[in-house]
Amino acid sequence: MLERTFIMLKPSCIERGLVGEIISRLERKGLKIIQVKFLKMSRELVEELYAVHRGKPFYDNLVKTLEGRRVVVMVVEGRRAIEVVRNIIGATDPVQALPGTIRGDLAIDLTDNLIHASDSRESYEKEYKIFFKEEELQTI
Ligand code: CMP
Repeated sequence: MLERTFIMLKPSCIERGLVGEIISRLERKGLKIIQVKFLKMSRELVEELYAVHRGKPFYDNLVKTLEGRRVVVMVVEGRRAIEVVRNIIGATDPVQALPGTIRGDLAIDLTDNLIHASDSRESYEKEYKIFFKEEELQTI
């Protein structure tokens, strides 16, 4: 059974020219890109995506690093894609992320940790709908 997950490449991926490197790592693992697009994050989109973190000490800083800046959002598919992608990207804090993971190899800042991915089926269902219409995700 194939599963899908939602991924956002944070603004520094674009600014540092790491979009291709990261998409390549996902594809080489065997994940299929179902849809991908660039967009500018509005305040509303940031607040919707990170609604569960509202009120936490790092929330304002998180909003500041994303609001008004360009990101890449995508939906990828593969066997147990949610778990696979979480493993490929590594721990939230790049200091703890193991070498070989995206954050372990390419990031050091906690807020600007390059990439976000859904942590559960429930998060995926909520997150992809913020950025994609159902018909954009049809592959046939
Ligand atoms: P992300 O996977 O996008 O989910 C929430 C984001 O909040 C996280 O990655 C980091 O960018 C940011 N963040 C900043 N500080 C923390 C923290 N102490 N714990 C968790 N997330 C944090």
